[in-house]
Amino acid sequence: MASQHDESSPLQPEPYDHVFAPMETEMLAWLALPADAKVLDAGCGPGVMAARFAAALGPAGQVDALDQNPETLARAGQYLAAQPGRARVRVHAGDLLQLPFDDASFDLAWASFVLHHISDPVAAARELRRVVRPGGRVVVRETGVPLRMLPFDLGIGEPGLQDRLRVAHNRWFTTIRYAEPVATPYPWGWTQVLRDAGCQQVTARTFWLELLPPLSAVQGQYLLDSLQRHLDKPELRALLDPADVATVAQLTDPASPHYLLARPDLHVLAGLSLYVGTVG
Ligand SMILES: C[S@@+](CC[C@H](N)C(=O)[O-])C[C@H]1O[C@@H](n2cnc3c(N)ncnc32)[C@H](O)[C@@H]1O
Repeated sequence: MASQHDESSPLQPEPYDHVFAPMETEMLAWLALPADAKVLDAGCGPGVMAARFAAALGPAGQVDALDQNPETLARAGQYLAAQPGRARVRVHAGDLLQLPFDDASFDLAWASFVLHHISDPVAAARELRRVVRPGGRVVVRETGVPLRMLPFDLGIGEPGLQDRLRVAHNRWFTTIRYAEPVATPYPWGWTQVLRDAGCQQVTARTFWLELLPPLSAVQGQYLLDSLQRHLDKPELRALLDPADVATVAQLTDPASPHYLLARPDLHVLAGLSLYVGTVG
């Protein structure tokens, strides 16, 4: 699991890359791409997965990484230029809803944690499907099972904090997801997004992050940051009971007797899901 990952690997652009690297290796193995595959990473962000795809492909493979945010893309370009598979990666500025690629250009179109930002996810999935060749796949990665790590009773505050944090997160996300301007609500899950976009043989597979102490420094930081955001984001903090805010402050304070990373009983679980549709 992640705790055994070699943190000196060159693929280390982002603070949490180490945490998810073993899971992403499993995802790539499951996708079983041929060495000469043409892959689109749509909404590539900092380029981590584009680099992983490129490293997994052979010399005839190709990865096109696209994002609409110029700063993110500049960062991705810089990062990707230093990676082992750089010769196989091209970086593009563009909108996922109007991809600058011909029909049927790719064997696989990948969109990770992007579609939940787009007000019309079916239109986005349809555009991904358009650029994939018949027999190829559209893969959407989203959270299947949200991160959890805390025991039910922490010995501080009301038991069940983990679930209350999740409720606050969901309420906060709803305000973002349905903020103006809002598209027609689409009250269906990711498998249906792919079906409605015209994909066939739609399936899902979840990959697990499961960690127990001792945690590496970056794993610990990832957990702390996932709690700290409840203090740092005013909109999220406002959705929590002040007693829970105080508990989170204790958990994230290295000087507190309740400091999260001093606990030997953390059990970290998160499931990231790949929703896969085949193009007919
Ligand atoms: C949460 S990040 C995910 C980045 C990366 N795929 C990952 O899994 O780490 C979402 C990314 O999607 C990009 N994005 C959002 N809407 C987009 C659109 N319509 N077209 C292209 N990129 C988009 C954002 O700029 C951002 O880089």
